Amino acid sequence: MSRKVSIFDTTLRDGEQVPGAKLNKRQKIEIAQQLAKLGVDVIEGGFPCSSPEDLQAVKAIGEQVKGPIIAGLARAVQADIDSAWEALRGAERPRIHVFLGSSDIHLQKKLRRDRESALEMAVEAVRYAKRLCHDVEYSTEDASRTDFDYLCRVVEATVKAGATVINIPDTVGYAIPDEFGDLIRRLRERVPALDGITLSVHCHNDLGLAVANSLAAVKNGATQVECTVNGIGERAGNASLEEIVMILRTRANTFHLHTDIRTEEIYRTSRMVSRIMNIPVQPNKAIVGSNAFAHSSGIHQDGILKDRATYEIIKPEDVGIRQHKIVLTARSGRAALRHRLNALGYDLEPEKFERVYNRFLNVADRKKEIASEDLSSIVEIELTRVPETYTFHSLQIMSGNTMVPLASITLVKDREKLTDAATGNGPVDASFNCIERIVGRQGILRDYDLKAVTMGKDALGEAMVRVDIGGTVYSGIGTSPDVIEASARAYLNAFNRFFANSH
Ligand code: KIV
Ligand code: ZN
Repeated sequence: MSRKVSIFDTTLRDGEQVPGAKLNKRQKIEIAQQLAKLGVDVIEGGFPCSSPEDLQAVKAIGEQVKGPIIAGLARAVQADIDSAWEALRGAERPRIHVFLGSSDIHLQKKLRRDRESALEMAVEAVRYAKRLCHDVEYSTEDASRTDFDYLCRVVEATVKAGATVINIPDTVGYAIPDEFGDLIRRLRERVPALDGITLSVHCHNDLGLAVANSLAAVKNGATQVECTVNGIGERAGNASLEEIVMILRTRANTFHLHTDIRTEEIYRTSRMVSRIMNIPVQPNKAIVGSNAFAHSSGIHQDGILKDRATYEIIKPEDVGIRQHKIVLTARSGRAALRHRLNALGYDLEPEKFERVYNRFLNVADRKKEIASEDLSSIVEIELTRVPETYTFHSLQIMSGNTMVPLASITLVKDREKLTDAATGNGPVDASFNCIERIVGRQGILRDYDLKAVTMGKDALGEAMVRVDIGGTVYSGIGTSPDVIEASARAYLNAFNRFFANSH
């Protein structure tokens, strides 16, 4: 019989540590609801003591998202644990996640403590958390670089103090699979107290081995994997949820392990996280990249047409990538749009549906056919809009290789139309300068990414930007068949995030 591996999703905590990916409460709830639909066992909603906003976001997730355990991170100190509990106490299934470094380098250089006093601090923190919450996870930060005997002592003592879950992180992505698998096996052998305790791993991807190390761990007795959607996270990221899940499923003959993930929700979750956090997914990313199921060589295409199994080990439908025969155009009515949205898994309230319908018409007027990918892009951008201080109205560009590009843009604020014009080094730069003139603030463009949502000359362009406004980086996303308009919408979106944050 296959054994279950629990999926602990930390997209909203470790994933949110990616620069510029900070989320507000509404965005966190939206992603958490989708994670619940995906079937994750645990959602780590955030690090409540890191800011009052994050505490409120974790609290709202705990109150509104039902099904998974909701976890909040805390350092091994009372103030952090109190904040975590304040955020989690309203949740149906709360978990306080306490962590403390255990490697000598962390103890000596970061915590300036000796092993014994750190051990006492860990035990006290777990005891304290346990008085508040029945479910307490303890993470031995930098476990893969920790002296093995000391690691065993920490694990044994924290289990005795009441931890229900022990997490062994490869914090800096230093481990290699054989070694990490061995560490888990030896730990289980040396610490009998781990029987009946959830043994978790949390691997970072600095050497590109996060998924391989997590799999080596579950093969050797780990029962929970901590991972993120699209593998996002601190530095090179965390183990990718979709890869772990699909490897265990596709190679069940080798692993004899399973998860409770509804795999047909994977693609949608990946797109949602990418859009809301404004972190593009690389095209060749396993499982969810735009090329993951694209066959370009003639020999491969011939094979696929004869039998998909020749070159595909996963059916695109299994991860929620659906092909549709009905074509949506500017003449498609509300019924056709609603039908396609339902097929894509969106069930929108009337007000949201109308917003999507209007944007759909605006795009369809300029693009012959609207593909499922276009529609998902439109829906998710519309649904995850921050409150808009300025609304995009229209744009005109004059550009050419013998003239200075000029952009004229109209935005709407409090029902008033505001129009201005600006020049720039190119049409995109001119439109960014124009937006800055209208909103009366300047930004420094840190990152700019433009991609086509589908194939073809009339493809919908999706622009993502990161803009430093007043010392904080805000991300923005915009979509349009016109790439300059998509870029301007993205730039304005970043400013709207800034204004939403400043209120
Ligand atoms: O990477 C790490 O060690 C962490 C811990 C807080 C679990 O993120
Ligand atoms: Zn981490």
